[in-house]
Amino acid sequence: MDYFNYKSNQLYAEDVSVPEIVNRFGSPVYIYSRATLEWHWHAFNDGLGDYPHLICYAVKANSNLAVLQVMAKLGSGFDIVSVGELERVLAAGGDPKKVVFSGVGKLKPEIERALEVGILSFNVESEAELDLIENIARKKNVIAPISIRVNPDVDAKTHPYISTGLKDNKFGVTADRALQMYQRAASSMHLSVEGIDCHIGSQLTDMQPFLDALECVLALIQQIAALGIQIKHLNLGGGIGVTYNDETPPHPKDYSNAIKQRLQGHDFKIILEPGRAIAANAGILVTQVEILKSQADKNFIIVDAAMNDLPRPAMYGAYHHIIPVQQHSRGESKLYDVVGPICETGDFLGKNRQLAVIEKDLLAIRTAGAYCFSMSSNYNSRGRAAEVLVDGKKIHLVRERESITDLLKGEHLLP
Ligand code: LLP
Repeated sequence: MDYFNYKSNQLYAEDVSVPEIVNRFGSPVYIYSRATLEWHWHAFNDGLGDYPHLICYAVKANSNLAVLQVMAKLGSGFDIVSVGELERVLAAGGDPKKVVFSGVGKLKPEIERALEVGILSFNVESEAELDLIENIARKKNVIAPISIRVNPDVDAKTHPYISTGLKDNKFGVTADRALQMYQRAASSMHLSVEGIDCHIGSQLTDMQPFLDALECVLALIQQIAALGIQIKHLNLGGGIGVTYNDETPPHPKDYSNAIKQRLQGHDFKIILEPGRAIAANAGILVTQVEILKSQADKNFIIVDAAMNDLPRPAMYGAYHHIIPVQQHSRGESKLYDVVGPICETGDFLGKNRQLAVIEKDLLAIRTAGAYCFSMSSNYNSRGRAAEVLVDGKKIHLVRERESITDLLKGEHLLP
């Protein structure tokens, strides 16, 4: 579901024509739809209904301040993995008491800052990290809220780089070790046990691995309770996939509703950390056709966006639909590879796409609201694209295109 549709043969973002945005802010440009962001957040929230819950949007998916602000205004919580993400959440008006802090390598200054602002929970991933958090809390004479990230050894059946719930992945701890860590945390003056969490991977298209992980965590909660330790929340992480091509992931509402059904009779809060399923459909990357080139049996569309702007195809071999912004181009329909200007063969946005274009036409790369801008870089000394958020008829520039001055900022010549 999204609010990017054709009207009079032109692609619109909500009530604004995409060429109008390009005329004002140039190309390449990321365009986000506020209504689409809100719709997906509500799908999760509504699915959980009256069961006590908190949706903690995974900031890494799209950390633009305006996107976070939209989430904050909905009353969302946030899943963060760095102090940078924490400061973004605070700058966007997010409530620190609704922040959970994930990640295997939290640093001392990051833990200190999170304690200072009073987050909901640290998702702890090792004994060493538990020690570190306890030591910092002791020095500050505060109590650190913690949850242990359990690795349920469930195969998420997704791309190996984004599968996190298998026992040979770097994430979480086994159930046995989690039990020991809970005992240790419960006996500490400077740690308070808040919850239990897991996150088995990203872009899952099947519900079953989530339900298997949930069973594993519920069984562990019973063992923890037998030790006299009460869990206040169960955090099942993120991971629900989206349709990039022909995948059929569970609908967020059905997914959260299934979890709600399974939890009937329990009294702890459920936390979900969706990122992609909220943001991906809410964004497109618009790029201009610069050069058409044919070589051997291949046709190439060279566009002004590249792997630095949208790294997923180069990094994971990911597929994103590429559609024309203006329908009925004067170009001849051909099978093309859509590539960027970067000096790497891996710099492609799509391969073997049937498209009809001429130079200066605009193309839109769909499902680009999550893990696209947030993973972009300055490779080949290319400034990052502008980001625009559309809200009905209103157009907001929410991040300026990076200038040459931005690119050189902070670097120094030798004396
Ligand atoms: N919670 C934790 C602890 C995570 O590690 C992640 C994602 C999420 C929540 C959110 O997962 P989501 O609902 O978005 O699937 N760059 C990759 C995705 C990496 C995901 C990393 N962790 C991609 O472009 O596919």
